[in-house]
Amino acid sequence: MTTVAVDVVVMAAGKGTRMKSALPKVLHRLGGRALLAHVIQRAAQLGARQAVVVTGHQADQVEAALGGMTEAPPALRCVRQEPQLGTGHAVQQALPVLADDGVTLVLSGDVPLTEVATLQALLDLCDGQHLALLTLDLPDPTGYGRIVRGPGDDVRAIVEHKDASDEQRRITEIYSGIMAVPTRLLRGWLARLDNRNAQGEYYLTDVVKFAVADGVRVFAHRIHDALQVAGVNSPAQLAELERAHQRRLADRLMAQGVRLADPARLDVRGTLDCGQDVEIDVNCVFEGEVQLGDGVRIGAHCVIANARIEAGAVIHPFTHIDGERAGVGVGPGALVGPFARLRPGTRLGPAVHIGNFVEVKNSTLAAGAKANHLAYLGDATVGERVNYGAGSITANYDGAHKHRTVIEADVHVGSNCVLVAPVTLGAGGTIAGGSTITKDTPAGALSVARAKQLSIANWKRPEKKP
Ligand code: UD1
Ligand code: CA
Repeated sequence: MTTVAVDVVVMAAGKGTRMKSALPKVLHRLGGRALLAHVIQRAAQLGARQAVVVTGHQADQVEAALGGMTEAPPALRCVRQEPQLGTGHAVQQALPVLADDGVTLVLSGDVPLTEVATLQALLDLCDGQHLALLTLDLPDPTGYGRIVRGPGDDVRAIVEHKDASDEQRRITEIYSGIMAVPTRLLRGWLARLDNRNAQGEYYLTDVVKFAVADGVRVFAHRIHDALQVAGVNSPAQLAELERAHQRRLADRLMAQGVRLADPARLDVRGTLDCGQDVEIDVNCVFEGEVQLGDGVRIGAHCVIANARIEAGAVIHPFTHIDGERAGVGVGPGALVGPFARLRPGTRLGPAVHIGNFVEVKNSTLAAGAKANHLAYLGDATVGERVNYGAGSITANYDGAHKHRTVIEADVHVGSNCVLVAPVTLGAGGTIAGGSTITKDTPAGALSVARAKQLSIANWKRPEKKP
């Protein structure tokens, strides 16, 4: 096992022409995160001391996006490759920031699904002294660099498709684009590159023939899972990798005991932590950080982001929950939806009920509170067992500032009330339906704030003139 320091070089200077997008290819998202972020995460998981990203096409945009891609080490830096003269030329740009005591692991910014264990195995093969290549057998190797082996199966060279003879083109073992190489050796080999080949490029793959010439051993770590080295060049390939990535996440969840109605109809764009006996119906999307406690059930077609849903809570179909930064908390045994919307800062206590077409934002509802139909609660503090009637709203915004509404325990708010904040409804009070409440209401009282009902006897409706 190697204990040599690892520097990761991520090639991300190429032009993603086939994406047909204004967004740089490596910033397109897979599982809710930029392709490049997946690659940098691998560097972090491997304990690399730094990740050097080689940028070129749309370098400004790529570099600007890098800031948000790691919270922890490795150290991140960028080097520019202008113009782009090939993969060997790309890695040459990183040499000034690479120290000779380490191993360089070369990755591509558009290959997101390589597993850490695979890269670790490659580093172990390299062992600080050898050249280690990640290779793969492909039924159709067209376009890829071929692994040419000599007597005794030793790797002798990588020959690019365009430079290969007919015989070499029949080789199905291809170079994945990923290698681990002792940096001091890499430096010498890159200095010897030339571009006398079919594409007029400086090929990184030519280091293999220099290693062979120098008597350095070349190892191939041959894997069978093409997904791990698949690159993204087009929207179709991106979608294909997205589904494969989602399937892996779904399999992992099911292995933990999560019951998915259909593993092909789940999207996790972030992290989803599940307790025991969680059930998720079809077509749910989870974003950011979501935690589901024991026995939580999520109905079909829910979108849930940045939320913590506690044990036994049920989220009925078509519910949208987005905690953004403030988060959303749903207490144990709460019932939410169908068609509910919970926005940032919502905290629902135990056994709270939020029904259809109810929107809650930056509000706390204590145990047993209910808002079952067509209502809005914004910037509100709602006490235990409050019943909040259909069609009632908090008027929390005066056009300049937000104000709080406090509804104390056991208050009963009738239907179609407007609570003009700031306002406090005293405990146990009743608010008559249709009231517009602008002043605090006393505990235990019935408060009515609407025109008194009036009836005019024998009322004659206007009649149409003949
Ligand atoms: C390269 C390998 C080939 C291998 C294939 C696997 C070389 C010469 N060939 O092919 O053996 O089978 O990957 O996919 O290395 N890039 C730069 N600067 C450049 C050129 C490329 O940063 O000047 C980046 C690209 O953005 C991409 C990566 O390097 O992320 C690989 O480039 P690409 O053109 O896809 O690979 P090939 O040269 O076709
Ligand atoms: Ca190329």
